[in-house]
Amino acid sequence: MTQRFAIRGQTLAFKADPFEVAPEDAISFDSDGCVVVAAGRIEAVAPAHEVIARNPSLPVIHYADHLIMAGFVDAHIHYPQTGIIASYGTQLLEWLETYTFPEELKFADPAYADQIAELFLNELLRNGTTTASVYCTVHPQSVEAIFMASKKRGLRMAAGKSMMDRNAPPGLRDTAQSGYDESEALIHRWHGRDRLTYVVTPRFSATSSDAQMTAMGALWRANPTTLMQTHIAETQAEIAWIRHLFPTARDYLDTYERVGLIGPGANFGHAIHLEPREVDRLRATGSGISHCPTSNVFMGSGLFDLEALRQGTQPIPVGLGTDVGGGSSFSMLATLRAAYEIAQLRGNSLHPIRAFWLATVGSARLMRLEKLIGNLAPGHDADLVVLDLKSTPVIAQRMARATSISDALFVQMILGDDRAIAATYANGQLVHRRSAGPGLVHGSPSVAG
Ligand code: GUN
Ligand code: ZN
Repeated sequence: MTQRFAIRGQTLAFKADPFEVAPEDAISFDSDGCVVVAAGRIEAVAPAHEVIARNPSLPVIHYADHLIMAGFVDAHIHYPQTGIIASYGTQLLEWLETYTFPEELKFADPAYADQIAELFLNELLRNGTTTASVYCTVHPQSVEAIFMASKKRGLRMAAGKSMMDRNAPPGLRDTAQSGYDESEALIHRWHGRDRLTYVVTPRFSATSSDAQMTAMGALWRANPTTLMQTHIAETQAEIAWIRHLFPTARDYLDTYERVGLIGPGANFGHAIHLEPREVDRLRATGSGISHCPTSNVFMGSGLFDLEALRQGTQPIPVGLGTDVGGGSSFSMLATLRAAYEIAQLRGNSLHPIRAFWLATVGSARLMRLEKLIGNLAPGHDADLVVLDLKSTPVIAQRMARATSISDALFVQMILGDDRAIAATYANGQLVHRRSAGPGLVHGSPSVAG
């Protein structure tokens, strides 16, 4: 790949938070723009005629009327659950026992972990997702596999070893001490190397003893530039179990809070059934939430209240996650559709500009990566997705009636999926290009210069 080149098409960037200003005022949209890429970074985003006049010999990859935007950022996903996506008939706690734990046991085998890590990254890139916050299993080799595979592809990726020392099968348990030591060794080996970030990962309070929770708090304090991810308040049965396991805790969040697993860089998955005190504490401490809508409907967990959590002068940072394999799709477009549907069931309509912001800037901010990814901005990593806005016949005919960029984005999030992803770039490299197939006739860019 040429060191310096431009990608031309329609361009979409964010210049403000669309939850704070009128959504249409939050974007910069150019119907014929160029993203100039140099040494893996975005050098400039400008009207195509200006870029071409200033750089007449610059190679230009022209995606015609496709939409170029920042790659999606999936704030919550489990790579070891790739194999059990679409497992029938259970809700969270039974689903963990029946499908998840048996599959995660297989990651004791590094060859299996390597194989699934490759499959998983292919799937992320096919769906235009360039960064994710990834749960691994309890096995350090599962973390090695995803970091090694991400490094090979030049991806910005965040991941961590799940820690569990109770309420899990023996082959999936560590101890307070071994969980600490193994995580610390992984931090030293991977955190900050190339484009990789370590995430301290207590799976959820139900699978960690008091001693392990305390150790994880100490680990995160000792490594403050790492992130922290876990689950909270996903189902009523889970909350009742936590109350039983931690009788002295004020609520679910307190099981994390009292050991220091709270604050900026903390990423709490789901957060559907929160108590008012928990909302106040998340808000006051700058802790974040990943909203996982396809998972919440697939597992029957409940309806996330985005509107309430983003309200006020101190909104809680919210990103968007697929939560595969509890979630039913790798596609962030499908995830946006589910977020829209959940908001509708709560009596709100999620504006498409807010939705796309959540799937990019929102998740990046939650992961403290906002200065590097999630937007088309000079100096950001050149992690990009090229959306074919007419990827199926029904989308093409609906797009012929689209009245605005908001409307076009809404069509994509309601009807689009992996077929809309014409190309994905990471670190300025083409890492996925959709192959032409029946009905996919829009995917061939022309290269000039
Ligand atoms: N809570 C604890 N573990 C998990 C998991 O793997 N998936 C989901 N959705 N919730 C969890
Ligand atoms: Zn999860």
